[in-house]
Amino acid sequence: MALRLIHIGMGGWGRDWEVNAIPRVTEVERVAIVDADEPTLKLAQEKLDLPDKLCFTSLDDALAHVEADAVLVTVPIEGHVPVSLAALDAGLHVLCEKPFAPTMDAALQVVTAAEQRRRILMVSQNYRFFPAVRKAADLVQSKALGPSGPVAVDFRRYANTAAVGTNKHYLLHHPLLYDMAIHHFDMMRMVLGQEAREIYCKITDPAWSRFTEEASVAATVSFEGGATVSYRGSWVSTGPQTPWAGEWRIDCEDGQIAFTSRNGQGLSGDQVTTQEIGGDPTNVKLPKLPYTGRAGALATFAAAVATGKEPESSGRANLGSLALMYAAARSAASGEVEQVNIPG
Ligand SMILES: NC(=O)c1ccc[n+]([C@@H]2O[C@H](COP(=O)([O-])OP(=O)(O)OC[C@H]3O[C@@H](n4cnc5c(N)ncnc54)[C@H](O)[C@@H]3O)[C@@H](O)[C@H]2O)c1
Repeated sequence: MALRLIHIGMGGWGRDWEVNAIPRVTEVERVAIVDADEPTLKLAQEKLDLPDKLCFTSLDDALAHVEADAVLVTVPIEGHVPVSLAALDAGLHVLCEKPFAPTMDAALQVVTAAEQRRRILMVSQNYRFFPAVRKAADLVQSKALGPSGPVAVDFRRYANTAAVGTNKHYLLHHPLLYDMAIHHFDMMRMVLGQEAREIYCKITDPAWSRFTEEASVAATVSFEGGATVSYRGSWVSTGPQTPWAGEWRIDCEDGQIAFTSRNGQGLSGDQVTTQEIGGDPTNVKLPKLPYTGRAGALATFAAAVATGKEPESSGRANLGSLALMYAAARSAASGEVEQVNIPG
């Protein structure tokens, strides 16, 4: 039987899940949509052409009318913890958007609640589920070009064209670190197969940034296995834009692995190359994944519910990414190297 899913949060990204992700995963049936804001719920209902009996303004109301196994949480970060806890209390499994929680304590509270109730809790870090990212992780961890050394990651976008006061993106809390770099931090852990130990992060905003908080950072991240990642991320870069996953260069003893992923046009931007010292770059054949991006996360979640096995990017596994993100914000504020404190 398909996993019966209540989808909570019908904002721009929630509606995009409805069109571009959920319908692709045959193991899942979305049995209701929820949004606390009636006009937003109505808009989603009309766009998705759904009957009244599938549309609700609260999880409680939805549960009074439909049977469900799990929730997908696509409300903003402030709602991730209360909505996830309410769903766990109702006996449901939870798949939650990034960034998982507004504090480490709150994240741990949800992880503990899920473990006590023996429910699956997973954070949808969708960038993991792209072929180039998985291939790069495979090449690094199998030491295809020998042991890996320093890594450089560049993310460049120019999201600075709208006039001030017309774009809510400018007003986000930590628009670069919490909204975007969380993806890159999570991929660093995944590709290297190591946990981050400390980070120095400096805000590098140029004078033309229209963002209220940081739009551009440079960071150095040290990992437990000895890897060091140099990271530059920017919403206000005037250079050629990178795909969403950024441009990666991983030095290995015998040569370099380079990759990029998620250009927003299917899988056309996914690319991995290897280049041995003194040799030419070689394109690496990428794996064919049954589901990619958010559909990959959702299918992984459905499989975890079916088997009872902790999934990749479970709430507990995501604590390392969240801790790195919060350490980055602390370092940007303190000007000091900050430890990445992952709760045990
Ligand atoms: N993975 C990605 O690539 C990616 C991309 C964009 C957004 N996101 C994430 O998706 C989430 C949503 O982003 P968005 O841009 O759609 O936000 P949004 O603010 O546009 O929409 C959120 C919706 O949630 C509803 N909501 C808030 N609290 C609620 C509650 N307690 N119960 C029911 N409904 C509630 C709001 O009414 C709103 O309609 C965020 O966590 C964001 O970080 C992820």
